[in-house]
Amino acid sequence: MRVHIADHPLITHKLSVLRDVATPSPVFRQLVDELMTLLAYEATRDVRVDKIQVTTPVAVTDGVKLSHPRPIVVPILRAGLGMLDGMMKLLPTAQVGFLGIKRNEETLQPVVYANRLPDDLTGRQVYIIDPMLATGGTLIDSINFVFERGATDVTAICLIGSPEGVAAVEQHVHGKAVKLVLGSLDEKLNEKGYIVPGLGDAGDRLYGTVD
Ligand code: URA
Repeated sequence: MRVHIADHPLITHKLSVLRDVATPSPVFRQLVDELMTLLAYEATRDVRVDKIQVTTPVAVTDGVKLSHPRPIVVPILRAGLGMLDGMMKLLPTAQVGFLGIKRNEETLQPVVYANRLPDDLTGRQVYIIDPMLATGGTLIDSINFVFERGATDVTAICLIGSPEGVAAVEQHVHGKAVKLVLGSLDEKLNEKGYIVPGLGDAGDRLYGTVD
């Protein structure tokens, strides 16, 4: 697995405001959107393109266009929804497939509670978006889900990751075409499964449901 941790002062600046407990939901949503667009630039470095010829007012020149089948963006419900617009700004012609996936606490088996993805992902480039890579469980299950349907390469984009989550994903996807793009690699997970220093519960902070 290739891991890319963004090292850019603008990303670190925006993440610092995002982390601040005093940042209200509207500003939080705006920052997630902006961060996603910045991370998408790196994450799409390997997006498949075909060569084309373009006629400018002056000459004919070589160019590229996105290959078919188009890439598919998969936000993981619910917090991944906050990253979707920022991603689509850079890949406006991508398809979007929604995935709600969680672990059964007793059996530890993945439970898919929402699936609006094509059954056949043969040959597709998939971009999974989810803000927090904590234990890695949801991301591992999501990666399995799309590979089982034929996806050939997967890029996962998370705003913040934990070393434990990165190690778990790395161990699981060993040898598969997976790239992980992070805005920050934080220090650790705490006993409640929150990333430290992190930003708290991304879904609650996006949608204002924290009490
Ligand atoms: N999910 C979150 O939203 N935040 C964390 O810190 C860990 C998992």
